[in-house]
Amino acid sequence: MGPDLSVLGFSVKHSCSAMSGITSMKKSSGMTSRLHRVAVFFCALCIGQTSYAVDKPQPSQAAAPVSLADAFGGRLKIGAAIEASQLSGAHGVLLAQQFNSVVAENAMKPADIHPGENTYNFGPADAIVDFAQHHHMAVRGHTLLWHKRTPDWFWIDKDGQPASRELVLERLRQHINTVVGRYKGKVYAWDVVNEVIDASQPNCLRNDKWMQVVGPGYIAAAFRDAHAADPSARLFINDYSTHEPAKRDCLVRVVKGLLDDGVPVQGVGHQMHISIYWPSIASIDQSLKAFAQLGLENQITELDLSLYQHKDYWPALSLQQRLALQGQRYGALMRLFLAHRELTAVTWWGVADDHTWLNVGNDVPGDDQPLLFDRSQRPKPAYWETLHSRSQ
Ligand code: XIL
Repeated sequence: MGPDLSVLGFSVKHSCSAMSGITSMKKSSGMTSRLHRVAVFFCALCIGQTSYAVDKPQPSQAAAPVSLADAFGGRLKIGAAIEASQLSGAHGVLLAQQFNSVVAENAMKPADIHPGENTYNFGPADAIVDFAQHHHMAVRGHTLLWHKRTPDWFWIDKDGQPASRELVLERLRQHINTVVGRYKGKVYAWDVVNEVIDASQPNCLRNDKWMQVVGPGYIAAAFRDAHAADPSARLFINDYSTHEPAKRDCLVRVVKGLLDDGVPVQGVGHQMHISIYWPSIASIDQSLKAFAQLGLENQITELDLSLYQHKDYWPALSLQQRLALQGQRYGALMRLFLAHRELTAVTWWGVADDHTWLNVGNDVPGDDQPLLFDRSQRPKPAYWETLHSRSQ
């Protein structure tokens, strides 16, 4: 007799008898390979696993489609960010089983994919796109322009002098044409510009090198270049803290200006790097509504829920309480997202808690657990609450 795994909503007996049933069904009926992979995954989880306690027992999942992709497939794209190096390991397996969309965590950022004016590094991005095609998954492209990963060569001309506005815009056009052109028909949506809003600026735009060298026109130029390279791609402006009223209002103002000028913007990407404690669901709802009212598509592009308050690493609640709270928050968020008909995709910024950007750096504790699967790739309360939100 193995450990009691009923807290996972999946007993050893149930999962493995479901597994043998599924295996024979598959042989006789040609059932989808995703369901088969999912069954293998959950059966494997149950064998020899130590108990994984959660606060409240979950109802049995034996009859449910235990794949997020299957549960949400007809309504939302369910995605995760990944590095090419993770594709052949446990994260790649989980990605193919549970998700139907993928984004490169870093491989498509300008400095990564285009490190020199005449040097492209397509290998990692190609591997992610090939993986997605093989597994019939959608791909989001992230990102064509970001103040943090614009390679230095963009700003220097051949004589070592500061590049002119015209030269920078020509380089941007070349970059976008090459990258978007390469993945035309394979990447369905692009984060054309990332984190360009700064609510403390009078014109709402970040005072970065792009503003200083090109001026505000760089945003419209990027969207027009992307549309020319792939007219079918959905084009997004992507940012963080879009629930904050000042940031939201600035984003509305900038997007309205682009739309008034006939710039091809189809949607707003909400990064959604948030916490189990903040922000309120109502503030996220208000922000989504503001963009829906402009006729735009909303997507959640980099979702994670930190177990900490911002910069406060001494939580009053126990880990178990915070994991339960995280589950409840994921459930509430997903119900909100489902209620927004214009919201078409939810992408997590990572597959499982053993690989999250929140644990990188000297100023963080390094033990945050913001995703749906734990550090051994097992489903957390967050996973079950996300799955259940679909049937509520
Ligand atoms: C992060 C990656 O996760 C890290 O691996 C990298 O070192 C820095 O960038 N907002 C974004 C993402 O738009 O591109 C960032 O990704 C996280 C914040």
